[in-house]
Amino acid sequence: MITTIPDDIGLCLSSALLDWFSLHKRPLPWREHYTPYEVWISEVMLQQTQMERGVAYFQRWMRRFPDIRSVAEAGEEEILRYWEGLGYYRRARFLHQAAKAVVERHGGELPSSREGLAALPGLGAYTVDAVLSIAFGQDVVPVDANVERVFSRLLDIDIPIRRKAAAELVRNEARHLLPPGRARDYAQALMEFGALVCGKAPKCAECPLAAWCEARRLGVERERPVKEQASETIPVTSAHGILLCEKHVLLFQRPASGLWGNMWEFPGLDSVAGDVQSALLAAWKKAGLAAEVLAPLGTVSHGYTNHRLTAHFFRLALDEALAMQDISEKLGDIPHRFVPWEKLGELAMPAHHRKMAERYFLRRKRAHAEQLYL
Ligand code: ADE
Repeated sequence: MITTIPDDIGLCLSSALLDWFSLHKRPLPWREHYTPYEVWISEVMLQQTQMERGVAYFQRWMRRFPDIRSVAEAGEEEILRYWEGLGYYRRARFLHQAAKAVVERHGGELPSSREGLAALPGLGAYTVDAVLSIAFGQDVVPVDANVERVFSRLLDIDIPIRRKAAAELVRNEARHLLPPGRARDYAQALMEFGALVCGKAPKCAECPLAAWCEARRLGVERERPVKEQASETIPVTSAHGILLCEKHVLLFQRPASGLWGNMWEFPGLDSVAGDVQSALLAAWKKAGLAAEVLAPLGTVSHGYTNHRLTAHFFRLALDEALAMQDISEKLGDIPHRFVPWEKLGELAMPAHHRKMAERYFLRRKRAHAEQLYL
């Protein structure tokens, strides 16, 4: 393991990297103007997804929210709707709160100071460094998984990359190699290079830095970065009921805090042990609605944090014929609503509910078009 790159080699490395970037950088939408708002949104989205999907979400977002004020003025429901599919909805909520704070404290423009940015909800060290360097050209380096991978190979870091000592080494050397005044290009070059050349399967044959790469010299580039033992995936089973009443679907709203906060879903149980159907019917009964299963609709598999969820869905029918009004009375204080089934697409739903809604109700829509009716 090398702990510091000599200055003369550092100069060669950073200029080779910047040359590579000027030839190979992708034409991304936020690279046209580098407005702080666009850089911020792109960086938050890219923490959630791969570049291609990130660009699609970014473009859709910018069409609806062209500036920070429009984010601040939108309702949370709509923000979540535009975030849906990216996961980790806390990020979207923070983004919304941060936009409001930017309007209140800074007149709608992101501040260019570390203190101002770091005081905004949800802006952690990475996002602050990314905005400072890429949008404002300040001499700092954001360290993401790409940058970690590049330096873990250049230096041959042989301790787990999540350890503090390894993280410090990466941070120090990334900063050490930054050519003053070139932070915008250098930060993006490192990330782009980590994504396109020094990826999980490194393309050493076409790497312009290979001559200075310690892991390559030792033939261990595929073993870097060193990972801590992966934590176990926890299997979870959930169960949900779909009830149609007067062409409307019954949805419950989740509590504001916790997983998928405030989103709308088919009523049921987040976690079931034992017989799925009887547990679901018991839960509905407890909520005030005695029901039976009309048809099982299959399962949706969905991964979140370290969980692997298998969600079971059932079409239900109530034991007695009730109108929406009667059902609402029985549900009392439980936050719920009835939505025309063809409008389900307008609500923010957890991904597994969205998948089932699309699978089941799009099918209905097609059947409707063909006058079949399900
Ligand atoms: N990944 C995250 N942010 C990036 C950026 N600005 N350029 C390239 N890849 C990235």
